[in-house]
Amino acid sequence: MKRAFLFADPAAHSRSPAMHNAAFGHAGIDAHYEAVRVPPDLLATYIQTLRQPDVLGANLSLPHKEAVLPLLDTLSSAARAIGAVNTVVNRGGMLHGDNTDAPGFLAALASAGDHRQGGAVVLGAGGAARAAVWALRSQGRGVYVVNRTHEKAVELTRELGGTACALEAVPWPSIQLIVNASSAGLSDAAQSPLPGFEFSVLPSSALVYDMVYKPAETRLMYDARAAGLRAENGLEMLAQQARLAFTAWTGVEVPIRVFLDALAVVG
Ligand SMILES: NC(=O)c1ccc[n+]([C@@H]2O[C@H](COP(=O)([O-])OP(=O)(O)OC[C@H]3O[C@@H](n4cnc5c(N)ncnc54)[C@H](OP(=O)(O)O)[C@@H]3O)[C@@H](O)[C@H]2O)c1
Repeated sequence: MKRAFLFADPAAHSRSPAMHNAAFGHAGIDAHYEAVRVPPDLLATYIQTLRQPDVLGANLSLPHKEAVLPLLDTLSSAARAIGAVNTVVNRGGMLHGDNTDAPGFLAALASAGDHRQGGAVVLGAGGAARAAVWALRSQGRGVYVVNRTHEKAVELTRELGGTACALEAVPWPSIQLIVNASSAGLSDAAQSPLPGFEFSVLPSSALVYDMVYKPAETRLMYDARAAGLRAENGLEMLAQQARLAFTAWTGVEVPIRVFLDALAVVG
């Protein structure tokens, strides 16, 4: 039996085992995925175990996505540019790092009906925001990055492109997409990254994409929908990054529905 893992701290809450074990079942692959709590000081030891022949690879989540980079043999161009790895592939004992959050985010945007044109605003300047900015810039989009700590947005845009600015400086009538890549709303469902925001400054065709997926309708989504805009949560991005990681490990394409159905079961 082959094995794949999630290394994270904490790890118990993860929905990845449900998705990947469902996908192994669907594909008829004799393999098992397990979430393992790995504290930061043990990351290097755990990463070494991925070189074993029966291991397909691993996902990485907080707090390991950046720290893992120097422990790997090769990196994809996306992982290197973003500075974060969420998927490690065991290629015959050599470990390759990739970032499937960025293409997973673009696939989720496409499903949500994003027009792939017009300006985009990314809220946040952490790892998720870096993946979003890199992905949107790869589409040639103009990106404005707004973050609670402005200096971090400046640093991000210096590396990845785009414009760091205050909320008031965004040219709102040209914006077709708002992405919440901040943690606002994650632990407090009543919290919005845009409290009191007047959504009518946006074109009526604009999409609001919240990477947070619990609750299913976040405060940001509620406010955007109340103003007549389309809004989606981050559940499909979670499924899409898993689908892409699965293919990287196995070479097998499993329909996104399998991953979404598994998420629906675990709630
Ligand atoms: N759907 C998916 O598949 C998916 C994938 C990855 C991440 N995510 C979600 O994306 C979010 C960010 O993840 P991350 O890994 O980028 O985290 P991170 O690296 O810790 O960055 C968090 C960012 O959120 C900002 N922030 C935190 N609390 C805030 C608040 N109350 N108001 C405004 N800004 C606030 C921080 O601003 P400062 O710089 O000022 O601290 C920082 O820019 C999380 O909710 C995570 O669950 C979803």
